[in-house]
Amino acid sequence: MKRKLRLGLLGTGVAARTLYLPAFARLGDRIEVLACASRHRENAAGYARLAGIPVVARDARELFSLPHLDAVFISLPIHLQPRYVLSALAAGKAVLSEKPLAPNLPAGRRLVAAAGRYSSPWLIAENYAFLPELDRLRSWLHQGRLGEVRLVEVRQVTWMDRRNPYFNTAWRARPRHLGGFVLDGGVHLAHVVRRLFGMPVELKRLTAAFATDLPPIDTAVAVLRFPGGAVGTWTSCFSARDPGPLLRVLGSRGNAELHRDRVVRRTAGGRETTYRSGVDSYEAQLRHFADVVLDGAPPAFTPADGLADLTLIASICGRGALPRPAPR
Ligand SMILES: NC(=O)c1ccc[n+]([C@@H]2O[C@H](COP(=O)([O-])OP(=O)(O)OC[C@H]3O[C@@H](n4cnc5c(N)ncnc54)[C@H](OP(=O)(O)O)[C@@H]3O)[C@@H](O)[C@H]2O)c1
Repeated sequence: MKRKLRLGLLGTGVAARTLYLPAFARLGDRIEVLACASRHRENAAGYARLAGIPVVARDARELFSLPHLDAVFISLPIHLQPRYVLSALAAGKAVLSEKPLAPNLPAGRRLVAAAGRYSSPWLIAENYAFLPELDRLRSWLHQGRLGEVRLVEVRQVTWMDRRNPYFNTAWRARPRHLGGFVLDGGVHLAHVVRRLFGMPVELKRLTAAFATDLPPIDTAVAVLRFPGGAVGTWTSCFSARDPGPLLRVLGSRGNAELHRDRVVRRTAGGRETTYRSGVDSYEAQLRHFADVVLDGAPPAFTPADGLADLTLIASICGRGALPRPAPR
């Protein structure tokens, strides 16, 4: 039987409760969460009771110094992530840290450079990288099933108000990270787009702030040109409603749509193929982290990937330029 990853968790907020608690419950064969900590000890203690975690550390320093932990998962407000990633690496722990890796591009670059001093594995928790639906769409593209790709339409349109638990987190109401929800949620789609089509070579954007309780912006629209020649549109809006697909790809032989739970391909003749994996991407990413730390598996999603995703979404939010395309 494979050894279990001995994990500590820093940050026991909404994501830890709603996304990772169910995943930890299914990962008992591979991951033991042996300790946790949070800003308020009573919140960490409540989480420990729910998750059956035996040790509640006083703070991050105590958590990172526990000798029986192989690794820590850091799930804190975005602006706090870099400092804790570095102190966990300095303590010799392998690290899984939330997306986006930093609150803005300069901070991301500094973090990646500083982390280069340490030898422990560090992965970014970009769960979209573990969606089999994304792999399926990628293989359709590589097999030419859609023909030449001409249009790429990205759409993340979600009504965000106090009924959504993320709205109620104080650090999101007064964000110290770039772009508010456009960055927080949009970094996932930056990954999808980059993975499928590469880093855009050209981008023009407009941003807007419609809802005063969603600072600093809740909307960004961009037009993009990709290395393969396709052109695209990007729409992020957290103050309107649209349950449609996250991505539409229109090619000379067919179209495809990526939804939250499935990917659909339609031929020019109207024949439809749907693929739905049923995989929980949070569970898959944690299992992969255990494989990297315990078995030396090559990381599927590196800090360099996280930095590239941040580069794209920061550019859409109105900060920073895309890297210059390499000369042909
Ligand atoms: N991959 C995904 O799909 C996904 C989805 C949602 C969120 N996330 C990421 O998960 C991370 C946490 O998000 P969340 O929604 O779980 O946030 P949250 O509910 O506010 O949780 C934040 C956690 O950080 C702790 N914390 C430590 N210092 C803090 C400070 N100065 N201010 C506020 N909290 C502090 C909080 O402690 P106390 O509870 O003790 O106050 C809490 O445990 C973010 O990086 C976010 O981008 C990822």
